[in-house]
Amino acid sequence: MNSSEIKHAQTQYAVSEFIRKRWSARAFNDTPIPQETLETLLEAASWAPSANNEQPWVYYYAFKGTEGFEKLWNCLLPGNQLWTKNASVLVLSLVRKTFEANQKPNNSAKYDLGAANATLLLEATQHDIFGHIMGGFDAEKTKNMFNLDENLEPVVMMALGYLAEAETLEEPFKTRELTPRKRKSVSEISKKL
Ligand SMILES: Cc1cc2nc3c(=O)[nH]c(=O)nc-3n(C[C@H](O)[C@H](O)[C@H](O)COP(=O)(O)O)c2cc1C
Repeated sequence: MNSSEIKHAQTQYAVSEFIRKRWSARAFNDTPIPQETLETLLEAASWAPSANNEQPWVYYYAFKGTEGFEKLWNCLLPGNQLWTKNASVLVLSLVRKTFEANQKPNNSAKYDLGAANATLLLEATQHDIFGHIMGGFDAEKTKNMFNLDENLEPVVMMALGYLAEAETLEEPFKTRELTPRKRKSVSEISKKL
């Protein structure tokens, strides 16, 4: 079995195929993601729901082989640097911390960004692109590297690319790439009132 077959979600109920298909890959091949495809993923993200339709998300992205990619990659923690060097695109997800209309704090901003990122990753599966969200980056370094405005908060990084064989990875990543995904059952995460 290849990694995608191993990672395909084995579900209790008839969950849609594009949800079963998404997983957090680490082995990426050399095929570049076209600019238009990347923008398609970003537009998918933009259709996520957000409090007051504020759309507090902001994306900084860079393609492999560019100075921007090097800068983003340098902000990752060492464990994530090892395998992200082969990603086609690195994306930094940020939020605007306040509402544009009245500058009051937006307490839903990160919640909304999570919805946008999930939407982006699900759209990616339709293009055979796999994404991997990472909290493992240095936020202070990122703020300095990109001279971020005080109102912008970096939240997660994301690696995107087309799949390569798991064998292209070093351990422990190779084993992780070939380990089936698991989830809590519906009864564990829900309560009928
Ligand atoms: C907020 C967040 C932070 C994460 N940080 C990292 C990270 O720094 N490095 C990493 O390898 N994976 C990271 N992950 C990926 C998770 O480990 C992964 O989504 C989880 O194990 C479920 O696997 P799946 O996405 O393949 O279903 C992160 C995921 C999220 C949502």
